[in-house]
Amino acid sequence: MFKKLGRNDMCWCGSGRKYKLCHMQMDEKILQYKDKGYKIPIRKMIKNQAQLEGIRESGKVNIAVLDYVAEHICSGMPTEDIDQMVAEKTKELGGIAAPLNFEGYPKSVCTSINEEVCHGIPSKDVILQEGDIVNVDVSTIYKDYFSDSSRMFCIGQVSPQKKKLVEDTKKSIEVGLSFVKPWHRIGELGNAIHEFARENGYSVVREIGGHGVGIEFHEDPFVSFVCPKNSGVLLVPGMVFTIEPMINLGRSDIVMDDENGWTVYTEDGMPSAQWEVTVAVTDEGYEIMAY
Ligand code: MF3
Ligand code: CO
Repeated sequence: MFKKLGRNDMCWCGSGRKYKLCHMQMDEKILQYKDKGYKIPIRKMIKNQAQLEGIRESGKVNIAVLDYVAEHICSGMPTEDIDQMVAEKTKELGGIAAPLNFEGYPKSVCTSINEEVCHGIPSKDVILQEGDIVNVDVSTIYKDYFSDSSRMFCIGQVSPQKKKLVEDTKKSIEVGLSFVKPWHRIGELGNAIHEFARENGYSVVREIGGHGVGIEFHEDPFVSFVCPKNSGVLLVPGMVFTIEPMINLGRSDIVMDDENGWTVYTEDGMPSAQWEVTVAVTDEGYEIMAY
């Protein structure tokens, strides 16, 4: 799995430093976990300092774009206007909206309302209404580095049930983050989110999850939020991925829009909420790159 490097060879991570002064000790530790039966990350999943800095800068743009949306989103607004805000703000800050043309996706952002689970496509015909809950999912390319985060917005007065769903889904992110620790398995955070959601009476979407991010939009590993505690890849400093559970008020089953090929809905028509964070594993725990 790992090509054996000499102590004085250049490190595989691209830092330009000698292996012994860079990732050698970490690799030895990873191999100890491998011997204990852990699934270990491939090298591509572990970012070097320059890459982490690039993702951090990309994340700052992503956050600024979401902040801009947060200031302006309101009842009566067509979701097309959100798309325009995201496209323009991202450009103004020197970035590129990652969704546009990604695998044929037609817009710069995803806007998913009420029973839409994810990948809602902005449209001039979809008008935000008082009482809606909407996820705005922004992804940025900045100097070739990717970041990805999303927030929920409540439009005017929403029902107490929907408001609680939105708040609890945000809390589930905090629960997940508290399990982002090096030398633990990624399944611990997914399982903790699932447990939290179930305790509060919700279900969690099974088929869609988080992903590695940074050099590409979607990288390995897949991050499940319905998995056993002792499953998934070992978390190692330098890994960057998203935590983005989709939590449903009703049942977990989803259906795909067969006309646009993108939008995912709850099968029972009940509301769904999602927050998304891009997080890096550090020596001590985690660093939020975008939220
Ligand atoms: N931002 C979404 C995610 O969290 C990806 C959407 S793909 C797109 O993974 F093409 F719809 F943008
Ligand atoms: Co994502």
